[in-house]
Amino acid sequence: MLILGIETSCDETSAAIVSEVDGRWITGSNIVASQIAIHQEWGGVVPELASRQHIRDICGVVRTALDAAHAELGDLDAIAVTQGPGLVGSLLVGVSFAKSLAATLDRPLIAVHHLAGHIESLFLEHGELQLPLVALVVSGGHTSLYVVSEPGAYTRVGRTRDDAAGEAYDKVAKVLGLGYPGGPIVDRRAREGDEDAIKFPSTRMTHADRNAPSMKGDLDFSFSGLKTAVLRHVRERATSGRSMDDRYINDVCASFQRTVVSTLLDRLFEAADRHGAQSIGIAGGVSANSRLRQDAAARGRRFGIPVYVPHISLSTDNAAMIAAAGLRNFHAGKRAGMDLNADPSLEL
Ligand code: KG4
Ligand code: ZN
Repeated sequence: MLILGIETSCDETSAAIVSEVDGRWITGSNIVASQIAIHQEWGGVVPELASRQHIRDICGVVRTALDAAHAELGDLDAIAVTQGPGLVGSLLVGVSFAKSLAATLDRPLIAVHHLAGHIESLFLEHGELQLPLVALVVSGGHTSLYVVSEPGAYTRVGRTRDDAAGEAYDKVAKVLGLGYPGGPIVDRRAREGDEDAIKFPSTRMTHADRNAPSMKGDLDFSFSGLKTAVLRHVRERATSGRSMDDRYINDVCASFQRTVVSTLLDRLFEAADRHGAQSIGIAGGVSANSRLRQDAAARGRRFGIPVYVPHISLSTDNAAMIAAAGLRNFHAGKRAGMDLNADPSLEL
């Protein structure tokens, strides 16, 4: 079975071919056209520019994915596409393209939730994992904890009440004048800094979320307090007349990163303990973080639980993970119709 995955939820146009042979998933190609250079100038993703660029790139990206996998359009057995969540104009490009391809080729169309894609990146890379798995999906738009009790069954047990961890990285980089996207730059600068230089607060949720009162909410995250503390520290430094030298910037990055990583891992391992996890996974753009990878592996060894993180090319947004989640949905009998619409706030 050969499936084409299409991902256009944010600022990456991506297409991938994944095949399934004897129940094993094999990535034939995974092409990503990044728009970072376009949005860098504005310090963040500009939705209108993103959707226009997706339109320019989608045909070439799909063609390249087919060529790289030595496949023809006629070889495809199904087409999977990200339905949401994401930027509506961007999602619409992928959804419309996938619909027209499915109609023209007369092949099944499969709708995929972007976060299911991130979770399935773990299975795509590592094969079958010990279940239940507790997965942390941590990106520019999301910071959520899911329990995967059986393949394709995801239950959310925690989420951020405000900013996503990646969003906090991007904002901290912006206030330090380091550019966009912030995650990789802060990660690099943090390695040169002293993580004990500044004590930043970490937030622990003790009350249920008013928007989800049925959930206890004590595995939820909050990063806006930390972000504000960093902004205040940097502003005070600037007004005090002391220099914003490299050493100070590196120390802010290291201290901030230490707080983010320990908050993420504390909650993740607590969720794993509570839900009797047999394995732990970390996916999404922030899982590319060097400190998060290192500390997660060390904690996993300490607690005797395997920790899985995808390769960086499968951590940040890509279509191979969408193709993998598409295969999961395909086998569950899920099919989308020609009335499929993009849903910017799709729930998983
Ligand atoms: O999953 P992703 O590519 O897109 C979304 O679905 O949001 O994640 C992008 C986010 C950005 O906020 C970026 O700054 C962050 O992932 N990121 C990192 C690193 N690489 C990317 N954050 C921390 N450390 C990194 N090395
Ligand atoms: Zn993502």
